[in-house]
Parts: sequence; structure tokens; C-alpha cells
Amino acid sequence: MFDLNLDPYVHFDRLMKEAVAKQVPEANAMSLATVDERGIPSVRIVYLKEVTSEGFVFFGNYDSHKGKDIEQNPNVCLNFHWPVLWHQIRITGMAVKLNPEESDAYFKTRARLSQIGAWASKQSEEIPSYDHLVRRVEEYEKQFDGQEVPRPENWGGWLVIPTEIEFWFGLNGRLHQRYIYQKTEDGWRTLLRAP
Ligand SMILES: Cc1cc2nc3c(=O)[nH]c(=O)nc-3n(C[C@H](O)[C@H](O)[C@H](O)COP(=O)(O)O)c2cc1C
Repeated sequence: MFDLNLDPYVHFDRLMKEAVAKQVPEANAMSLATVDERGIPSVRIVYLKEVTSEGFVFFGNYDSHKGKDIEQNPNVCLNFHWPVLWHQIRITGMAVKLNPEESDAYFKTRARLSQIGAWASKQSEEIPSYDHLVRRVEEYEKQFDGQEVPRPENWGGWLVIPTEIEFWFGLNGRLHQRYIYQKTEDGWRTLLRAP
């Protein structure tokens, strides 16, 4: 039985470990939903890179579609779906930019081509052709030849600070179990929801 007395981060950690152990493909891939200034939603997959005591961390381009959405509306929603386990985890919260030092530290760990790509790709912008991107990659490879690639200022991480976390377990007859944690001033309120 799912123990609602346990901290939700303990559950998340256990469930992620189980997903990895059971070789769920791309277990750390999650949907990220944002909303633009007109209220129009968009969703895309990003990788969860770290879980801290404060929340869930992912990285990308601050000038991208998602970056612009978050800039004007920090309310986001994350969703993991692990079909083999029939598990779903939904995290609703506020996205805040990591500080530059934290983004630098992660950027340094990335493969060189990904680092070059962060310079070459103006993520989410229209491009005239794929060749155009390839040429930009070549230009930046020349520019940074023989040196470490620095982090572009418009590339970095966000921390999603949760206001609600839902753990969903699929069961037969659509009688799924939904366990919810809602952030309060002094901890978490817990509840169940009908499936
Ligand atoms: C498995 C997978 C993982 C991805 N991880 C990231 C990521 O960590 N960060 C990122 O910016 N884009 C990632 N992408 C690409 C995004 O889905 C998306 O195309 C990109 O961020 C641009 O989105 P936007 O135009 O809505 O801002 C990933 C895509 C897939 C399929």
C-alpha cells in the first residue's frame, strides 16, 4: 500500500529507481507543459537532470518557446509516463531559473557537440534550411577550436518547485489509484482522487 506519510521525494526517488531497474526507456524523459501570454498551452519532452530538496531540474534555451512562456508565466506542469510499470507522475509547480554557476557546472559535463549546438541552434526559431544549422555548427566549431566551449548566456537550467505532486498507479477495471501531495505552509497535505 502506498504510504502517504512518506515524503513525496522519497516516493519519487524509489519509483524512478524502479523504472531504471526495470529498464523503462528514457525514464527521465518528462513532458513539460507551459502556457503563453495568450493562454495557449504547449507541451514538449525534456530530460529531468536532477532532483534537489527544492524540486526538479531541467535545462534548455532561455529564448526558446518554453523559455519565453516561462518568462511571462512561471506556472508549469511536468508529467512522467512509464507504460511498462503503468505509472504516471504529475508535478505542478513554478519554474525558476537556476543561478549561472549551477548552469555552468552542468554545461561543462555536456558532450562537446551538444555544447556547440547550444551556440549554433537558436532553439524554436525559424531557420531557412537544415544546412543553415549545419553551417552554424561548423562556424562555432572553428570559433572554439582548441578551447573549452563556454555556456551561452541564454542556455541554462530551471528548477520546478512543486505545489502539487500526483502519483498514479494503473489498476484493472480503470480503478486506478491516485495519491496527491499538495504543498502547504508547514509541509504537505495529502489526499486521494477518484480515477
Ligand atoms: C527524449 C527527449 C528529450 C529531450 N530533452 C530536452 C531537454 O532536456 N531540453 C530541451 O530544451 N529540449 C529537449 N528535447 C527537445 C524538446 O522536446 C523540444 O523540441 C525543444 O526543447 C524545443 O521546444 P520549444 O520550442 O517548445 O521550446 C528533448 C526531446 C526528446 C524527444
